[in-house]
Amino acid sequence: MSQSAKKRVLSGVQATGKPHIGNYFGAMKQFADLQDEFESHIMIADYHALNTVQNPHELGDNIIGVATDYLAIGLDPKKVVIFKQSDISAHTELAWIFNTLTTMPYLMRAHAYKDAEAKNKEISVGTFDYPMLMAADILLYSPDVVPVGQDQKQHVEIARDTAEKFNHLYGETFKLPKELIKEDVKVVPGTDGRKMSKSYNNTIPLFADDETLKKAVMSIPTDSKGIDEPKDLEKDNVFALHKLFTTGTEFDDLKNKYEKGGMGYKESKEILIKNIAAFIAPLRAKRAELEKDKNYVLDVLKEGGKKAREIAEAKMAEVRAKIGVKLY
Ligand code: ADP
Ligand code: TRP
Repeated sequence: MSQSAKKRVLSGVQATGKPHIGNYFGAMKQFADLQDEFESHIMIADYHALNTVQNPHELGDNIIGVATDYLAIGLDPKKVVIFKQSDISAHTELAWIFNTLTTMPYLMRAHAYKDAEAKNKEISVGTFDYPMLMAADILLYSPDVVPVGQDQKQHVEIARDTAEKFNHLYGETFKLPKELIKEDVKVVPGTDGRKMSKSYNNTIPLFADDETLKKAVMSIPTDSKGIDEPKDLEKDNVFALHKLFTTGTEFDDLKNKYEKGGMGYKESKEILIKNIAAFIAPLRAKRAELEKDKNYVLDVLKEGGKKAREIAEAKMAEVRAKIGVKLY
């Protein structure tokens, strides 16, 4: 297939800290899986992160951290444009233009805003306006699909609505993007059974060391059923994680023992730790290698920024002409 006939992907994660296995299975793994088949643009949302990270050293470290994570999970900079949002000023420029087409009541219906409000949090304008910057991130690159976890579905819908609004007002300009959500991993549960999330303190970090991993898995609450009692596959958070890490006859045996009795939670957790550790070890080794060469990681971002800027600026020129500010 020729380069231009390939479908396009755009996605990214915020530079808010260490990724966890929910981020990986829900979104980041898809970035790697799709890189051969799609023309891919994978960004680091550092301006989005500014809503929560206001320490400049921490933000800088987080940005390099996410870039390193991307490379460690196998994103190939020869195939994927890897870049950071703040390198491309078209993102914030287009977000402003979208602000002028969007109403307050519409943004007030966004889950992230409603959740923050329900918790009586002081909400920054940046948090309120988060979906408009994300719409700009997406629409500048004309992607067909945006791989994300379930919690980002509404944001992609908002991007689609915004594209439609703009196209209706100014003429066909933006391709309508679609979220790509993998059904079996759309909400990876955390160690407490709620959605795994940095903000819930229930994560298993993607590059966890063995001690952190062990502690996290051992802390998963279970019911009081004994070794010989049958257990509830649907309700047990240990089993939910086995679905991601335990395979083949080991999985069949585990499932059988859960259903009929014959395995205690301690043993189940030990198997889970073994399998997650085996999954993480090569990723952690790759990441450790990359950490030794920070300049390489920075070069990847710089190069990616150049390529992304070309695409974004071409779209911005079209937008400026459409809205009437391009006079010469
Ligand atoms: P967090 O909720 O931990 O702050 P982010 O907002 O950085 O995570 O999410 C980055 C990507 O990972 C998004 O596409 C999001 O939908 C996905 N994601 C986050 N948590 C999960 C989860 N528990 N299960 C599946 N996908 C997730
Ligand atoms: N909002 C996304 C998250 O919290 C991160 C993000 C920013 C994003 N811009 C994006 C995801 C564009 C997909 C496409 O995970």
